Amino acid sequence: MNKFLQRLSAATAVLAMALAVHPAVAEEVVKIGVILPLTGPFADYGEEIGNGLKLYMKQNGDTVAGKKISVVIRDSTGIAPEVAKRLAQEMLVQDKVDILAGFGLTPNALAVAPLATQAKKLMVIMNAATSVITTKSPYIVRLSHTLPQISAPMANYAVKHGFKKVYTLVADYGPGIDSELAFKKAFEASGNQLVGSVRVPVSNVDFAPYIQRIKDAAPQAIFLFLPPGNATVAFLKAYKERGLEKAGITLLATVDFADDNMMDALGSSVIGVVTTGHYSEAHDSPMNKAYVKAYAEAYGTKIRPNFMSVGGYDGMATIYAALKKTNGDADGDKLIAAVKGLQFESPRGPVMIDPETRDIIQTVYFRRAEEKNGKLVNIEFDQVKNVKDPGK
Ligand code: PHB
Repeated sequence: MNKFLQRLSAATAVLAMALAVHPAVAEEVVKIGVILPLTGPFADYGEEIGNGLKLYMKQNGDTVAGKKISVVIRDSTGIAPEVAKRLAQEMLVQDKVDILAGFGLTPNALAVAPLATQAKKLMVIMNAATSVITTKSPYIVRLSHTLPQISAPMANYAVKHGFKKVYTLVADYGPGIDSELAFKKAFEASGNQLVGSVRVPVSNVDFAPYIQRIKDAAPQAIFLFLPPGNATVAFLKAYKERGLEKAGITLLATVDFADDNMMDALGSSVIGVVTTGHYSEAHDSPMNKAYVKAYAEAYGTKIRPNFMSVGGYDGMATIYAALKKTNGDADGDKLIAAVKGLQFESPRGPVMIDPETRDIIQTVYFRRAEEKNGKLVNIEFDQVKNVKDPGK
């Protein structure tokens, strides 16, 4: 072979190698399809969860076990199960995502669950908190909370503090119903009886008619679940202005009410309200301090880190940990096996994925809203460790 031909064949060999490598290059990417409400009344949830998710990637890089992580985020527009389902279908079929993630709202998570099963893809719930969600597909893992997990401890708190007459008010959909039933069960197990219960439409912002009914029943406390946003702000205003507080009726609620990123909108009326929850911006740990600092550096101080952002952050941490265990293999069966029993430290405290339910086991904190250094914050004053979802 003359020199020219030798060089030509060497060049061809390099080209052939490059071509052979090319399809493998495509496989070196793990695609995550994220579905979040980015517009509409729950747009804050999407921003918060997305911020947590992106912060994790910023801190930990976009390569895991040799695979490049690519994230596609699409807008579910609010409580819109049909939209969420269509987006998931498009992501699975056209974008060929390996993992589904996000899900701020229960109805959307429930609509997508059967698709995760059919496609055999890992589905990571970053907020949606109705207990039953994880039972709807063997590929689901949840990194947020469940309403029974934080509502039952609040019933125990009410009993311990001598509240015998309690009225519940919840949003009339999955998480609200879960919250009411878990509170009722734990409260009545101690020989008490609720004096009344009301379920309000999820987008309701006029609490006047309900407040009158509650006043008439003369409870010592109200237990509340509403999704954070206009409803929580409107409720607190009505509670103050319509004399419930003056009548000595104590407000007890879940983390969803005293959402750290809603504290400024709730205003000073929130001071003193006791809630149960899995995350507080004021959680006193070195990891959380670093998280809060990094969040402010990335997003400014107008948006505050809350339980939703930590759901996004920990959801991503779980995906990274699972991929490390599978050596970058994004096969759904392998990833779900890898997340079972996973333990790590979160900004909220220690967490573990229950190997049986794929739900999160975590500390539930009792917190009181206070003003500290000119900021409204939830200060943790007690806790129960290793709480499983009692809803299953
Ligand atoms: C839900 O739809 O599951 C949901 C929404 C907001 C919350 C908690 C749960 O704060």
